[in-house]
Amino acid sequence: MQWENNQPLSVLFVCLGNICRSPMAEGAFREATLAEGLDVHIDSVGTAGYHIGEPPDPRAIAIAARDGVDIAGLRGRQLSEQDFADFAHIIALDTANMAGIKAREPRGSKAELSLLLDVHGTADGSVADPYYGDESDFEKCWAEINEATGEWVARLKHQIAG
Ligand code: 4NP
Repeated sequence: MQWENNQPLSVLFVCLGNICRSPMAEGAFREATLAEGLDVHIDSVGTAGYHIGEPPDPRAIAIAARDGVDIAGLRGRQLSEQDFADFAHIIALDTANMAGIKAREPRGSKAELSLLLDVHGTADGSVADPYYGDESDFEKCWAEINEATGEWVARLKHQIAG
């Protein structure tokens, strides 16, 4: 979708459970937009409904807090049809969830669908699910997400300016 300057910038991050990767992406992206002075509507959801209403995984909260990013107040939500109308950019954390997003995409949706890691051309395009891993998996995940969300902010800022 071509960016229009009169539209508020809106970005939705999507993983499976909305308790690990997408809340980390939401927090990291929000931090980066604030640092750039950008006003963006940001949210995250899961394609699955396992953790609706739940806070992020304590390991995700801890790794974000270590960098001063507070995601403890976020609550799990499942991707809905309305999200395709409410968000200009829907960004999947992995290819499996991209497939889940496309399966729910309403006819005529104008939301631009992307993979988070497309921003720097990673071969497989997926941020690995750390849920069944350990703290080091969360650390790797957080680092990967921070780098990519920083690049997304630069890309979107460029779109707004251009
Ligand atoms: P996320 O991780 O998709 O990064 O939030 C997961 C969280 C929960 C489950 C799977 C992945 N689960 O199966 O409950």
